[in-house]
Amino acid sequence: MRFIALDTPKPLSKIGLGTWQFGSREWGYGPDFERQAAQIVRRAVELGVTVFDSAEIYGFGRSERILGAALGDDRPKVVVATKILPVLPVAAVVQQRAVASAARLGVTSIDLYQVHQPNPLVADHTTMRGMRTLQDVGLVGEVGVSNYGLRRWQVAEAALGRRVLSNQVRYSMLDRAPEQDLLPYARQAGRVVIAYSPLAQGFLSGRYDAKNPPTGAVRRANPYFLPENLERGAALIDTVRQVADAHDATPSQIALAYLLRHPNVLAIPGASGVEQMERNAAAADIDLADDEYTALAEAAKRFRPVTGIAAMPAMLRARFGNPTGK
Ligand SMILES: NC(=O)c1ccc[n+]([C@@H]2O[C@H](COP(=O)([O-])OP(=O)(O)OC[C@H]3O[C@@H](n4cnc5c(N)ncnc54)[C@H](OP(=O)(O)O)[C@@H]3O)[C@@H](O)[C@H]2O)c1
Repeated sequence: MRFIALDTPKPLSKIGLGTWQFGSREWGYGPDFERQAAQIVRRAVELGVTVFDSAEIYGFGRSERILGAALGDDRPKVVVATKILPVLPVAAVVQQRAVASAARLGVTSIDLYQVHQPNPLVADHTTMRGMRTLQDVGLVGEVGVSNYGLRRWQVAEAALGRRVLSNQVRYSMLDRAPEQDLLPYARQAGRVVIAYSPLAQGFLSGRYDAKNPPTGAVRRANPYFLPENLERGAALIDTVRQVADAHDATPSQIALAYLLRHPNVLAIPGASGVEQMERNAAAADIDLADDEYTALAEAAKRFRPVTGIAAMPAMLRARFGNPTGK
């Protein structure tokens, strides 16, 4: 395992574990998955993963409970990260919700407490007042944000009056917007970009194609998995596979290695089984050559998926059972 070279109370592994999948029906992994989830966590700890990411909204608290129970006595050794859904994130509410999350996780301090998304109506100084008190009493270690643009991340930091260590954003070979501003800022300021959906929810594994799309509500709602986009992505997957073959690795590992090349990025892939998590952890040790990185970046740029409003008709057809459009 490799770690972020920053002064943090506990080391931050370059590969963490995302736990939205735990206790959440929308991934479609079924009731037996809870037992596997615990095994995934145990194996991750064995392999040196130190960052475990949850949120109060995942499975309406079940993800936090499953994660906390699976970590057990290892909780103090790792970075337990969770998120508040900022519906009314005034100071008193932020404090109450942190206490509830800590109880579900079974910790006396949340190592990284993140604001899940910017609230369009409540300013950050209100939310950060609650965060500051939580830090002062020791219930929260580091504060983070999620889905924040650069400007608002900086505003949040000014409001907290301390570092807002991380910004958790969608970042994968398909979603490279963080490379424009968040990554340069993180590097210059000594902050961390936490890459969520780093495999584009499995698109980059190369396991799916137009005839074999994934199941489950999450990915039915993701336009990348429209048959047309899976077809358009074939050339990109080919390039990823070529690089993977040269490293005796899998496409998912190369997709992660692409992100981890940046020193201030850590990725938190989710996993549907222990073996996936093992492979993801091993991706931290892959070094891409410059020409491989360039080839991947170029192939990623050439991929033009149908998204946004243009994807709506096909999304509706897929949703209501007529994916061919005929
Ligand atoms: N802050 C936010 O707003 C936000 C939003 C989304 C996610 N997140 C966090 O980020 C984490 C990861 O994002 P995500 O779950 O959306 O997407 P992801 O990590 O890109 O994709 C996870 C899925 O990819 C497949 N996979 C994982 N490892 C694999 C491997 N080695 N080989 C082949 N397939 C593999 C698995 O699905 P199959 O095996 O079923 O194909 C797995 O469920 C979440 O768990 C959550 O903690 C945060």
